[in-house]
Amino acid sequence: MILEGKKILIMGIRNKWSIAFGIAKSAYENGAQLLFTYMGEDNKPKIEELISEFKGAKAYVCNGASEDEVVRETFEKIKAENGKIDGIVHAIAHANTEDLHQDFIYTGKEGYSHAVDVSAYSFVLVSRLAKEMDLLNENSSLVTLTYHGSRQVIQGYNVMGVAKAALETSVRYLAENLGKDGIRVNAVSAGPIKTLSAKGIKDFNSILTVVEEKAPLHENVTTTQVGNVATFLLSEMSSCVTGQTIYADNGFSIIGV
Ligand SMILES: NC(=O)c1ccc[n+]([C@@H]2O[C@H](COP(=O)([O-])OP(=O)(O)OC[C@H]3O[C@@H](n4cnc5c(N)ncnc54)[C@H](O)[C@@H]3O)[C@@H](O)[C@H]2O)c1
Repeated sequence: MILEGKKILIMGIRNKWSIAFGIAKSAYENGAQLLFTYMGEDNKPKIEELISEFKGAKAYVCNGASEDEVVRETFEKIKAENGKIDGIVHAIAHANTEDLHQDFIYTGKEGYSHAVDVSAYSFVLVSRLAKEMDLLNENSSLVTLTYHGSRQVIQGYNVMGVAKAALETSVRYLAENLGKDGIRVNAVSAGPIKTLSAKGIKDFNSILTVVEEKAPLHENVTTTQVGNVATFLLSEMSSCVTGQTIYADNGFSIIGV
């Protein structure tokens, strides 16, 4: 029970296939009390049903994780109802579909900014507001989700690769800034998983096939396996780990040809 007594906020739950849901399962099994944010008022009943298996869990709407006022309002509610928390998982990303379907070179200014804004800047904003609003206990841990397309060209990942590179670099700068307050910041680079977001990537199934064929462990990862790595990073077990991007990909990223 390495998260016993810890309150963890998980941002970006959508459905039972979400990586956020796998992280929730692992964190809950390890003793955490869970709070969630999701997008879309209309999704409230669906999300409440989804998280009902986590005793005491609460969910808050957050329609725009890169918008100052939206995040501020959400964090105010969370703090008023729950007090300070011990960790945040940021599992949020978005790019326009056309930017994932055409060659990267055709990405326009709006699409480029949108992907970086929602997928990378939102983590900077969340981290800053959590600190400024005194939402975090000492020894808190912040975790975000990234993908190998930040480092190598993966057909169809396109501008999202640029956004993830910005996110991974942000993790390092945030880790330096927040280390003074005893707060750690890390990213989990998950192998490909068939979630709703992943369906936006062209030929996603062929990526899954290649991983099965070439990864040292010859399997695709599950959301619960990724969740276990996030749980480790949220816990005191990783108290000397900060500013890192930890791969949870069955080793696929070490393979050249
Ligand atoms: N699925 C994969 O193969 C994979 C691999 C590595 C990393 N990731 C990353 O994991 C994270 C979670 O994605 P997922 O695959 O579980 O998909 P998902 O669709 O289940 O989750 C994405 C979440 O982002 C939220 N979101 C999008 N725009 C938002 C905004 N402006 N404000 C607030 N929330 C917003 C959505 O509502 C959704 O809950 C993402 O950062 C994704 O890039 C996914």
